[in-house]
Amino acid sequence: MDERATWATRIGFILAAAGSAVGLGNIWRFPFLTGESGGAAFLVVYLLLVVGVGVPVLLVEFVIGRRSNRNPIGAFERLGHPGWKAAGAVGAIAAFIIFSYYSVVGGWVIQYVVASFTGGYGADAEAFFLSTASGTNAIAYHGLFMATVAGIVALGIRNGLEKAATVMVPTVVVLLVGLAGYGATLDGAGAAYSYYLAPDLSTIVGDAVSILPAAAGQAFYTLSLGMGIMITYASYIGEDRNLLQDAGVIVVLDTAIALLAGLVVFPFLFTQGIEPGEGGAGSIFISLAGAFQQLPGGELLGGVFFLMLLVAALTSAFSIFEVVVSYITDTFDVNRVPTALGMAAVLFVVGIPTALDLTYLDAYDLFANNILLILSGLLLSIFIGWVYAGEAVEELGKGRASDGRIEAIWLTTLRYVVPIVLAITLALSVRDYIGFLQESFL
Ligand code: PFF
Repeated sequence: MDERATWATRIGFILAAAGSAVGLGNIWRFPFLTGESGGAAFLVVYLLLVVGVGVPVLLVEFVIGRRSNRNPIGAFERLGHPGWKAAGAVGAIAAFIIFSYYSVVGGWVIQYVVASFTGGYGADAEAFFLSTASGTNAIAYHGLFMATVAGIVALGIRNGLEKAATVMVPTVVVLLVGLAGYGATLDGAGAAYSYYLAPDLSTIVGDAVSILPAAAGQAFYTLSLGMGIMITYASYIGEDRNLLQDAGVIVVLDTAIALLAGLVVFPFLFTQGIEPGEGGAGSIFISLAGAFQQLPGGELLGGVFFLMLLVAALTSAFSIFEVVVSYITDTFDVNRVPTALGMAAVLFVVGIPTALDLTYLDAYDLFANNILLILSGLLLSIFIGWVYAGEAVEELGKGRASDGRIEAIWLTTLRYVVPIVLAITLALSVRDYIGFLQESFL
């Protein structure tokens, strides 16, 4: 199939890519990791990784996607380096695993939306979360979320993704700003801001080593890196676009929304007297539902919040599903609709264990994010830095006036900084993951 769709408008691409980046990662995952990993110190390490590693790797994915016009696996054949297909395959496998449980969390969000508008979350927010998170209801709503995503992706790139993103991203921003403003008026806001925003600089170097796997995994996850998403989306952009500028907009928007989510979540937690590190994957659900319940007008506010979370989750889910669908339609010359429906069914089944037991959800999440995404980023950077540098620099220069300075900095970062940081991270992540498996399953 050589006739490939392209984005109708520049803003359509940016919004869709930003819609992919802004998702449960920013609002569900970022605050609970920050809470578990000590607050402001985590934030500092995470921000350094976004700038120093996230931005260069995002550009790597954009360059590979636009240059090849292909899905993340087919891309390397097109670029004349079929041996590197494995690098794309690691990302596609990560996308597959991540989406299988992302849909389960998306199902929780639907349940919270329903509960918000139909009588609340019961007397005990934690019990409510546990009954939401696992069991037949969790499986049923996981199926509903998956079916919605498959339906929209089946409609095709312009009709489905672009229109949806154009409406959804601005909605998310407006609602979060409103909630953060409301959070600022709460009693716990002062304590929350100092926990979240004031790092203890004397311990930060020592802390960085233990924080690295989670912070790097989150930096990749939140920017939708290492899962082939940005390669796939960039495969639909024209050569007149300035990739650097688009990357800048996406990173700033994504980071701003994560920071904003922290400004929403922590004041609510502190006001309720809830420890920020408590509750793991349930953190935002338990704490916010508890908070919403006690606040005046809280359930309506909760309904709005969870609806917004659902919107953010859907635009991200479209993007990851698109990776899987575009790979299959590019490779096997089959149609979008049956592919989307068939893959949704497979992913639904793969996600079921995570809807039965939260330990499986952690196991999927840690393996895909802290190991596969990092490995994929490592391989892609080495490929561009050392194997495909000349062509990559040329590709990055298209659509903009360039004196080559930025390209030179980019290449140096990709050759040395990114591989060293990611190799260290990978080693720490594997060690941590083995520890996690022993603790949880042996
Ligand atoms: N950047 C997305 C987020 O922060 O939620 C990452 C993502 C994860 C996208 C899983 C899609 C997905 F299915």
